[in-house]
Amino acid sequence: MRINKVKTATLKETLLRRLTLGTATLAITASASLAIAHGDVTPQAVDTSSLTQLGEDWRIANPYRGNADAIRIGDSAFNQNCARCHGLGAVSGGIAPDLRFLEPGDDMDEFFIGKVRNGVTRNGAVYMPPFEGTLTQEAMWAIRAWLETVHEAQ
Ligand code: HEC
Repeated sequence: MRINKVKTATLKETLLRRLTLGTATLAITASASLAIAHGDVTPQAVDTSSLTQLGEDWRIANPYRGNADAIRIGDSAFNQNCARCHGLGAVSGGIAPDLRFLEPGDDMDEFFIGKVRNGVTRNGAVYMPPFEGTLTQEAMWAIRAWLETVHEAQ
């Protein structure tokens, strides 16, 4: 009996130590990539090099709709940049709008890109930070392409 208890305790401790280590590694990775992003001329938080590059002019309709590669990139870009407010997998916990309900299609694309570029500030309070300068339009449209795959009717 006694031996069993000791074993369980040791196992728990080992697990805890692993978890703590894991978190520390995550934190280091996060700050390292931030440092790289700041040192770069164009911050590239999301690698979109495999997608057709869109140039300087901002599109008002998603050029990547239905593009499997863009959807994959957008999924991870969303979880890195948006999920902390809009929820993992876009399932909102109530802090920010649930983006699964955003209508798919060109009509909503312009609204979407406007929000993401400029963010939302009301009465001096930043509700959502602007992402222009942090994310490329390729990354933003990839996020939109992914969001449409998790769309739900309201
Ligand atoms: C710091 C929290 C935060 C982050 C990070 C954030 N948002 Fe938001 N977002 C909000 C809030 C809050 C609103 C609602 C603002 C308002 O009251 O109009 C919003 C609104 C929006 C809207 C408009 C939704 C609607 O129905 O009015 C879109 C689109 C959107 N966000 C997309 C994104 C995307 C894409 C990302 C990541 C690139 C992102 N947001 C990151 C907090 C955030």
